[in-house]
Amino acid sequence: MASTSPLRASVNPTLHPAEPDNQAGVWSAPGRVNLIGEHTDYNGGLALPIALPHRTTATVRPRTDGLLRVTSTARPGETVVVALDDVSPTVPGDWAAYVAGVFWSLRQAGYAVPGADVQVASAVPVGAGLSSSAALECAVAAALSDIAGLGLLDDDAGRARLAQVCQVAENDIAGAPTGGMDQAAAMLCRPGHALRLDCRSGVTTQVPFDLAAHGLALLVIDTKAPHALVDGQYAARRHTCQQAASALGVDTLREVSPTDLPEALGRLSRLGDSAAPARVRHVVTEIARVEAFVDAVQADDFTTAGALMTASHDSLRADYEVSCPELDLAVTTALRGGALGARMTGGGFGGCAIALVQQEQADSIGAAVVAAFRQRQWPDPVPFTVTAARGAGRGC
Ligand code: GLA
Repeated sequence: MASTSPLRASVNPTLHPAEPDNQAGVWSAPGRVNLIGEHTDYNGGLALPIALPHRTTATVRPRTDGLLRVTSTARPGETVVVALDDVSPTVPGDWAAYVAGVFWSLRQAGYAVPGADVQVASAVPVGAGLSSSAALECAVAAALSDIAGLGLLDDDAGRARLAQVCQVAENDIAGAPTGGMDQAAAMLCRPGHALRLDCRSGVTTQVPFDLAAHGLALLVIDTKAPHALVDGQYAARRHTCQQAASALGVDTLREVSPTDLPEALGRLSRLGDSAAPARVRHVVTEIARVEAFVDAVQADDFTTAGALMTASHDSLRADYEVSCPELDLAVTTALRGGALGARMTGGGFGGCAIALVQQEQADSIGAAVVAAFRQRQWPDPVPFTVTAARGAGRGC
């Protein structure tokens, strides 16, 4: 963190010791991978994330002096202290802003939350496109819900509310114009299930997703290619989609059905924005692929599910232009090694690819990807398999 950050202490926290309180405890929330449905959330579309076994924990102890004091195992010796009343959207983004933002956003939403000591530890790789920021936000939000007695963890409606609060925190405080998929995944996912997220209606559906029962595995490949959502590319895609929706006279691109697509593309081409037709084609076809993927998984048809993942990658690469050479190489190498399907996951421009593989091929496919990267003298990617884990809650 830059030493000039306004979040840095101007108050000596030792003057206001934390209250010994039996409400103190540990809460955690997971990272996520999205199986399919990329860049659809901010278009009112469908997405299908699973929660990762990798979690971020927040050890939280309430304070009575309205101060927030944040430490992280990733930043030894660094303590950020801010008065809750001083947290605002003009505070520039850095790691502690994700924590402060949740306090601010809950208060903005009308929930009374106390100051606190927050100690963060994360096993979610940062900058890998696995939603480490949402995991951090949701771990803190889960803690505050319990500590302030908000009861929002008790049911899906409350969890969805917390996810929205965390999304506002990320958008307004951390300055990342993301949709709501990552926070919804961290809050609402259940073990052994993928979360079908309808971002227009807000309806969520738990889709059984137990690959091991079918002799399959989900291989995640962290390409180690740097990934950043705040560099303008994500915002540019989002802006193009909004402009295209207004040009087509709809609120979001969700309103454009695959049947309407040819006519919509014709209209956009006539308007002369060269990027818009391809972006819209991605969004509309990707939403349809989520539906088809859910149907395929429910029918135990993993060949079709894999093919849909690969089609999603092709669309993200060619039409949405958010892939990169490392993601493309991970995908093509996994497919050549026998994967049923493979694609980039998350916002893109780096980060992780995922591959649907036979369990017994997971190691060899991972090794083939590492070898392909070495051949190009790129840093080693990191392959690992994951299963669908639980959302945010008390405990590690
Ligand atoms: C990032 C954002 C999400 C979503 C994905 C792309 O992960 O945080 O809201 O838009 O990119 O699907």
